[in-house]
Amino acid sequence: MVKKRVKFTLKSIEYNEAKSMYHVSSKDIGIYIHVPFCKSICPFCPYYKVIYSDTIVKDWLKYLINEIEIVKNIVYEFSDVRVEWVYFGGGTPSVLSPEEFRVVIEAINNHFDVRGDIGIEANPLDLSVDYVSKLLDLGISKISIGVQSFNDKYLYMLRRSEAGKSREILRILNDIVREFNIHINVDILFSIPGQRIDDFINDVKTAINVGVNQVTIYPLILAKYLRMHKDIIEGRLPKQPSLAMELEMLRKGKELLEDHEYNISTIWSWSKSTNIYETVSNEMEGEYIGFGPGAFSLVGLREHMNIPSIKRWCYSLMNNKMLKYVNKLSREELLWRAFANNLYLSKINISYLKSKYSNTKNISKVLKVIKILRILRYIRKGNTLTWRGHKLSHILKRTS
Ligand SMILES: C[S@@+](CC[C@H](N)C(=O)[O-])C[C@H]1O[C@@H](n2cnc3c(N)ncnc32)[C@H](O)[C@@H]1O
Ligand code: SF4
Repeated sequence: MVKKRVKFTLKSIEYNEAKSMYHVSSKDIGIYIHVPFCKSICPFCPYYKVIYSDTIVKDWLKYLINEIEIVKNIVYEFSDVRVEWVYFGGGTPSVLSPEEFRVVIEAINNHFDVRGDIGIEANPLDLSVDYVSKLLDLGISKISIGVQSFNDKYLYMLRRSEAGKSREILRILNDIVREFNIHINVDILFSIPGQRIDDFINDVKTAINVGVNQVTIYPLILAKYLRMHKDIIEGRLPKQPSLAMELEMLRKGKELLEDHEYNISTIWSWSKSTNIYETVSNEMEGEYIGFGPGAFSLVGLREHMNIPSIKRWCYSLMNNKMLKYVNKLSREELLWRAFANNLYLSKINISYLKSKYSNTKNISKVLKVIKILRILRYIRKGNTLTWRGHKLSHILKRTS
């Protein structure tokens, strides 16, 4: 999940001008593929997506391959760059057939030296043992499943297409966990309008009982422009739980997961293995290249977002142009981001901050802030967050 503050300017970039946009400074990068299709649209979702159709997927696939080839061809430095992760996010990547995944993965492998895992986001009802086994054959080794809740009452409230099918979701998850030795994350939402704390805890317990390696609990964050926000304001839906209740949900979820040997990997995610499904943190600091309409990239000191319109994205690629919102960052901004990312990861890595940002003006300020946070008991010995620090990080992240 990614949330960005928008201070970008829209630029139409000729391919031959785009070199500086892709001037990679590190040896290891990531690749993000945005699959902007959903079979139905959820009223709480802030991501760029359109309704799925066969024809629109065909266009997307054609221009995606085009975009991968163009980016590779204009950036000669890629020759010695390793790709440490590939994530397919959305939208809903699991609407793609194994054959469509094959075409994209082949294009990436043809142009990049992929060393790390390939992960995808999925809707539970798109999955089956047969489908997952085909994905494994293609080299996909992590699946993040958007369950949101195992309780039909809340699936209806969220207007999920899975509403009324919670038993089927559970059966599919059980089948997959039993059948495959693959990293499975399950996303569960909390702070749903009218949600009772016990219902949320039952959702976490169900995920634990299924035996998935990772559980991510996201607080439902409703920007003002979203339909669900309007429905709450106009009284068609109950209010979200108070902040105090939300923090209590987080505390109980955390305790339950840690009691069951899940280790904290971010303030909202716990995993049984060292291998985690994590996109937010990867995308905060980069470097990574995003493909597809609405995809972000963070390369060097530039962050760019492909135009979030499938039609305009296809049309510009057809005309040898890239339509991008571009935001130039400073090293100082990157340092503060890295610090915020450490807070999100629930562990402050001081030697990393010092070595990577030693020549920034604000490094001493950041180190001072860390010292104060330690004195005020937001950070404990070993530089992990205390519960006090966890709450602070939660509030900062959900309001950023
Ligand atoms: C972009 S979705 C992709 C997965 C898939 N389409 C799905 O809905 O299951 C990834 C995750 O973002 C989370 N998400 C979506 N909207 C959110 C919101 N408004 N607040 C918090 N989390 C949200 C959901 O938990 C979802 O599983
Ligand atoms: S939450 Fe998932 S299924 Fe729902 S609209 Fe967003 S991306 Fe699509």
